Amino acid sequence: MAAIGKNIQRARRLLSGGKLVAIPTETVYGLAANALNEFAVAEIFAVKNRPTYNPLIVHIGQSDELKKYVAEVPPIAEKLIEKFWPGPLTLLLPKKENIPAIITASLPHVAIRVPDHPLTLKLLQMLDFPLAAPSANPFCYISPTRPGHVQQQIGEKIPYILDGGPCEQGVESTIVGFENNTPVVFRLGAITPEEIEEVAGEVKVHKQTGCRPLSPGMLPYHYSPRTPLYLTDKVEELLEKHGSAETGIITFHKTMENLPQEHLAILSPTANMRQAASNLYHSLHRLDGMNLKRIIAERLPETGLGRTINERLKKAAGRTAAESW
Ligand code: TXA
Ligand code: MG
Repeated sequence: MAAIGKNIQRARRLLSGGKLVAIPTETVYGLAANALNEFAVAEIFAVKNRPTYNPLIVHIGQSDELKKYVAEVPPIAEKLIEKFWPGPLTLLLPKKENIPAIITASLPHVAIRVPDHPLTLKLLQMLDFPLAAPSANPFCYISPTRPGHVQQQIGEKIPYILDGGPCEQGVESTIVGFENNTPVVFRLGAITPEEIEEVAGEVKVHKQTGCRPLSPGMLPYHYSPRTPLYLTDKVEELLEKHGSAETGIITFHKTMENLPQEHLAILSPTANMRQAASNLYHSLHRLDGMNLKRIIAERLPETGLGRTINERLKKAAGRTAAESW
């Protein structure tokens, strides 16, 4: 199993030696390696069982470093950086030669951000290389928002988890590219399109592509059984149909009396979207660990962060065939 601790020097030594370390960010835990070391980066793909056509995000310690790795920064990107970095905004920008092809899956753009977590910022500022870091979960599984989630899923494959506590945002960064100086959201995330619009004017939201392995066989068998998840506006109806004995429920803010209370995860008792986002993955991890027959999740209002949360829940439900409802 991985050691868990707050020792930044230990993390620095491991990373400098080409090893992997799980690092906290404000969004989710990342599985980090030296982004300029292709061998270390290849190990990320191996540990996650992630296909190499899926590129990685590069993390830097301050905005000033951006120009070391990207060839051009459009003026609108400068404005977004000013407003949102450090923070959960990842920008797609034309890469320089020094970013290895394995990072971008040979694409001409690199995804790059300054994360907003005190431990990881300190670590990045001590390193003389940037960190490549996807979410620290096996490919296509629930992202980790606590050290325990990382330990449980990939702990035996990595030496160290830097413990930064629970992730404040709880959903991944928003990924933004540019078409003729207009921002295009390629992944909904912790910063909403509306918030980007306030800084940048018109924003497009790209149709989501999702997380699809080439074939089910690419996923290792022991990860495979996962509780089927249903996303619905009518939680009570589905609960009545299936019964409460082996059913987990995720609601936005509603309490529900007619089921064992440990089967229930209320994302935010005060109906606060930000709190709901930060509790989302932990609730999924918790209920998924209970060996229930199914999880029924309530759709949130499709506004602001609700849109990001619904999109993640829809993907979590992706494995559950509609006919089994
Ligand atoms: O919040 C986050 O972004 C977290 C933390 C650790 O920073 N990271 C994260 O990484 O979510 P990952 O690998 O789980 O998701 C990154 C997404 C993938 O869907 C990938 O396809 C896309 O970013 N991506 C990365 N580089 C890209 C590129 N050059 N062009 C297009 N998409 C890219
Ligand atoms: Mg991920």
